Amino acid sequence: MSDLKTRLTTQAAKVEARLDEMLAATPLENEVARPERLLAAMRHGALNGGKRIRPVLLLETVRLFDQDDTQALDIACALEFIHCYSLVHDDLPAMDDDDLRRGQPTVHIAYDEATAILAGDALLTLAFDVVANPGLHQDARIQLRLVRELAQAAGLGGMAGGQMLDLESEHRDRSEAEIRKLQSMKTGALLRFGCRGGAIFSNAREEDVERVTHFGEIIGLAFQLADDLLDVEASPEQLGKASGKDADAGKATLVGVLGIEQTKAELAALLEKAETVLAPFGERAGILKSLAAYIVEREN
Ligand code: IPE
Ligand code: IPE
Ligand code: MG
Ligand code: MG
Ligand code: MG
Repeated sequence: MSDLKTRLTTQAAKVEARLDEMLAATPLENEVARPERLLAAMRHGALNGGKRIRPVLLLETVRLFDQDDTQALDIACALEFIHCYSLVHDDLPAMDDDDLRRGQPTVHIAYDEATAILAGDALLTLAFDVVANPGLHQDARIQLRLVRELAQAAGLGGMAGGQMLDLESEHRDRSEAEIRKLQSMKTGALLRFGCRGGAIFSNAREEDVERVTHFGEIIGLAFQLADDLLDVEASPEQLGKASGKDADAGKATLVGVLGIEQTKAELAALLEKAETVLAPFGERAGILKSLAAYIVEREN
């Protein structure tokens, strides 16, 4: 295994173990009970083997600023809970209507629609329980900023807003600029927070917060371009989810607008740009650069 693969696997395993602990059967203080079926559906949606790219990005950004990433594990997990909730809802019949996710039945197939809606709701609220926990950061102002920026990344002006624009783009023409905007929201916002949140957590200089934010925006776009390409080029077996969905839904994507070759050229250019943005950090940014390459070249 390459160094990056080993590092990714180790970091992802840390995230997985902590997500598992946070989804334990024992109620927290102030919780009355954790209903078994809802908890099981949440566990199905969160613990079933995602790549954990967003939390790993956050942990690696914290390392970039020489901070101890074990302290950042909880906020990394909160970000992953929000991502998992977005997938549970994205797969619902009212949205993309998918049966397969991460090689398993989607939550509404394994349980039922109402349970999947509630599981998404409860994953989202659990994320904010986790980031609001007084032990999360020693500086309350930094913690409050993290809570607010995470909310903005997830909500109306971020992921949820982007999902709205994405749904509207079925059978409706969208300009290239409009597609870029919607992608920066539906996928970009959470990946951007992975980088930006790691820098804020580390109390980095504002200039560095902006630099890693820019890096996050570049890889956010690269991530969705790669996803759209895989939707065209890969098999469901390879992806662990359906492919060919975007064209079937008549969904406007950049791959549809630019074509496959130009999309691949843009991906290569984005990778170069991502590396240039990180150049001032020197060798310390090695892992983040490899992560960017992994995002561009990934096969699932
Ligand atoms: C899939 O995200 C949904 C998109 C935003 C394109 P990932 O490819 O990160 O999904 P998992 O978490 O690894 O399953
Ligand atoms: C999903 O985009 C993005 C979010 C869930 C926010 P897609 O609909 O393209 O993701 P997949 O292809 O189902 O994973
Ligand atoms: Mg979708
Ligand atoms: Mg989908
Ligand atoms: Mg997709």
